[in-house]
Amino acid sequence: MTLSEDRLQERLTPRAVQFYPQVESTNDLAMEWLHQGAVSGAVVVADEQRKGRGRLGRTWHTPPGVSLAVSMILRPRPEHLPQITMLGALAIHDLLVGLGLATTGIKWPNDVHINRRKVSGVLAEAAWTGDKLAGVVLGMGINVRADFSGSDLAQQAISIEPALGRAVDRVDLLVDLLARADVWAGQLGTKTLFTAWQSRLVTLGQTVTYGGLTGTAELVTPDGALSIRTGDGQLHRVIAGDVVVEDGS
Ligand code: BTN
Repeated sequence: MTLSEDRLQERLTPRAVQFYPQVESTNDLAMEWLHQGAVSGAVVVADEQRKGRGRLGRTWHTPPGVSLAVSMILRPRPEHLPQITMLGALAIHDLLVGLGLATTGIKWPNDVHINRRKVSGVLAEAAWTGDKLAGVVLGMGINVRADFSGSDLAQQAISIEPALGRAVDRVDLLVDLLARADVWAGQLGTKTLFTAWQSRLVTLGQTVTYGGLTGTAELVTPDGALSIRTGDGQLHRVIAGDVVVEDGS
């Protein structure tokens, strides 16, 4: 089944929803809507993104018909900002486990993996008015039936349908995802949210490389930082970026 304005409105009412067949980036449109006064929980959904953005200045591919690209507007308290991407990764992780994908885990900081391959990523962008937090756009991209075979990403990326062995409906996925995101948004600022994220991290205990550092990913702190223990016994705190895990993921 295709994504359409009618289907989304029918299934997501009373949530505020904007749907577009094609956009540059749902995060950009959500940011505009946020500044125009969108309520917390409002979402922008697109079938295709022509300039989808990932973390660290990367491109996020969203060809038509094969992915979920959604940006959720939230109005959190500033002290809860570090938990926004945790919230997104948790909602996606739990959605996939709920489908029966038991080998799902979160790779630090917030990539969702199935069998060590990335199925989803989150990109949170904050909007400030002076020094006051106006809100956050939480962008979530999920590969549903994107085909990576034969591409450079074949060993690193995966989609839900081939992993599950059956077709899934993107509107059903979206309804479930947003319900889970709402629940976790209600837990912002709690230790429960942090410990849930921590418990789903597949990176902890692994040998990882970050820049010139190699060591064991030992612990995470409530602000989302990762501490890596190197061979000389020192603990190095990493706040952002990506680690490469020994298994190549
Ligand atoms: C990453 O893993 O690098 C984050 C990817 C985030 C992609 C989503 S898709 C919906 C939203 N719109 C964007 O342009 N990016 C995010």
